[in-house]
Amino acid sequence: MTAGVVLCFKQGTFCVSPEYDSLAHAYQRSKSLPFRVYSEIPNHLEILGDLRGLDVLDLACGEGFYTRLIRHAGAARVVGVDVSPQMIALARHQEHEAASGIEYVVGAAESIHDLGTFDVVSTAFLLNCAADQSILNGMTQAISRSLVPGGRLVATLGDLGHQPGVDYSTYGMSTNVTAGLAEGAPYNITFLLDVDTFSITDFNHSQATYAAACQAAGLKVLGWHPCTVTDEGIRQYGTEYWYTWLSNPCLWRLEAQKI
Ligand SMILES: C[S@@+](CC[C@H](N)C(=O)[O-])C[C@H]1O[C@@H](n2cnc3c(N)ncnc32)[C@H](O)[C@@H]1O
Repeated sequence: MTAGVVLCFKQGTFCVSPEYDSLAHAYQRSKSLPFRVYSEIPNHLEILGDLRGLDVLDLACGEGFYTRLIRHAGAARVVGVDVSPQMIALARHQEHEAASGIEYVVGAAESIHDLGTFDVVSTAFLLNCAADQSILNGMTQAISRSLVPGGRLVATLGDLGHQPGVDYSTYGMSTNVTAGLAEGAPYNITFLLDVDTFSITDFNHSQATYAAACQAAGLKVLGWHPCTVTDEGIRQYGTEYWYTWLSNPCLWRLEAQKI
């Protein structure tokens, strides 16, 4: 697939280029925020576990942040899929600079069919992009058909929609969530970086909604894992800094298994 294409193929029709196209580099920079370095990233990798020799699909791979970590953790076949051509272009650029054998594909997660099957599907911040229940179901069905029987899904989910009025600016984020949101409602997250600020849209789904979409697709939920902070994060920033983060958890890891 050619990098830099403005249209993508989604459920049999062409859709417009997504919001992430314009902010691939800014999103990449946000990966150095302390909440990511000392909480999100180690938490996601911990639940992924030992990947040596396993085939892993990274859905909504963005510019390949987790895809590269998965490959470096010893996974065998590693494929990254993202709907944003610019995200995939940035991922492929990095693969070109330091080849590690990752395959990158532009496409909507809910439409993938022909990539084969994998031992693990890893996905960070995909399911909270589902604008409605049918898209969410399409995503979990695609995950299920991409897994071997017994294969695992590890999904990090943003859940800021369930934290009305909480001030996360210390961590480099703010939202427009001031009161309880309806199920499925969109909300904005703004990343407050030193060099640039950008906003993305997520959708407010409950754990029950995610669990139902998994169940309907033949995925058994094994557990929901809340945020923790590494010892190094506590040492660098102190316990006070992490108080709001840990008392108002806005990131979860959903672990599920194909029946
Ligand atoms: C918040 S970014 C996360 C990127 C990457 N997983 C990470 O953690 O660095 C969300 C990504 O999901 C992608 N995305 C949104 N909807 C998608 C869909 N339906 N199929 C595939 N990718 C999608 C966006 O293009 C974006 O790259």
